[in-house]
Amino acid sequence: MAKKVLGVSFGRKMSNCDIMVKQALMECEKAGCETAFIRADDLEVENCTGCIACTIGTMTGRGRGYCIKHDDFDILDECVMQSDAVILACPTYETSVTGRFKTICDRIGPSHDITFRKAAYEEGRAAGKPESELPDARSFKKRTAVLISVGGAMTENWIALTLPMMFEFTFPLAIDVIDSVEYYGAMAHESVLGYPEMMERMSKVGQHIMESLNAETEEERVRWRGEEEGVCPLCHTRILQVSHDAKTVDCVVCGSHGDLSVEDGKIKVHFTEGELNRSRLRWGGKAEHSEEIKTRAQPSGTIKNLKALKAPYAAFDRPPFEVDRDSYGNCKERYGELDGKTGEQ
Ligand SMILES: Cc1cc2nc3c(=O)[nH]c(=O)nc-3n(C[C@H](O)[C@H](O)[C@H](O)COP(=O)(O)O)c2cc1C
Repeated sequence: MAKKVLGVSFGRKMSNCDIMVKQALMECEKAGCETAFIRADDLEVENCTGCIACTIGTMTGRGRGYCIKHDDFDILDECVMQSDAVILACPTYETSVTGRFKTICDRIGPSHDITFRKAAYEEGRAAGKPESELPDARSFKKRTAVLISVGGAMTENWIALTLPMMFEFTFPLAIDVIDSVEYYGAMAHESVLGYPEMMERMSKVGQHIMESLNAETEEERVRWRGEEEGVCPLCHTRILQVSHDAKTVDCVVCGSHGDLSVEDGKIKVHFTEGELNRSRLRWGGKAEHSEEIKTRAQPSGTIKNLKALKAPYAAFDRPPFEVDRDSYGNCKERYGELDGKTGEQ
């Protein structure tokens, strides 16, 4: 059966992200894959409300790890479940991912957290529950991903947070990222189609996906194919958080903890295997997190007089400052009406 590759663009219609994802998908089709393309802005996806019904459901065995909301997220979810690989491209908005990207990631995790789903699945099976009452078994399929961030600014640090944040899409389901591309300076070209080297890199993305899908060993399937190793040996990013005592660092993306040193004028981080196993990209780190939530999160009812304690805050209700709505908007008389279509290409 042909392998399935899903491409998701979070960019404007027929702009850089769309074209870059499609180029990589075309390469996968040439190699015999079935592909699907989703433009995230075509989906109506509501924000997570934080009700945590998804997590409570899997923790108690009463739910299958689904959100109580049913909107176009279900389309994306089903496409991910069917896929063997995903290619994601996200524009940089305000140095980070777009709002819709974040909305979709909040809807993916924790409801799709593989450790919660796996425990609920195994406990449910042991209890003789039918498959239809268990988390989707396709959640546990091994998948490959490539992440692509795009930024208009010419200075690389204006896109610094985008790629790291894109791991929020992949880590809950333990999707293995095998390549990434950070395309900054996009506004120096009218379209990425005027930048042949980047289009070639997108063909390479498609080829990397194919190599991973056709791999005969697990080592070869997950092999890192990015152009740079990065600092973190697991996620290959370069974004580190310095500890409070300024002696050690954590990888912001995957939580790997290491010791920092400077050797021959170069910053080096030493990560022990034990610490790498606590990364949220590995089973150990994922299990540690789900265990701490299961054992240390307090259920409701533990603070006996909570209602009374909350009362003054509930009573403290202030409206927004006064706003003159007529003073907002562009100056139509001087500049004409803007129709919001300037971004569509
Ligand atoms: C609200 C907004 C904020 C932006 N902020 C940044 C930014 O911080 N850094 C950057 O490099 N580009 C920024 N850009 C430019 C976009 O990243 C750029 O236009 C990109 O090409 C959009 O992707 P698309 O062409 O696939 O739609 C911003 C664009 C918008 C609309």
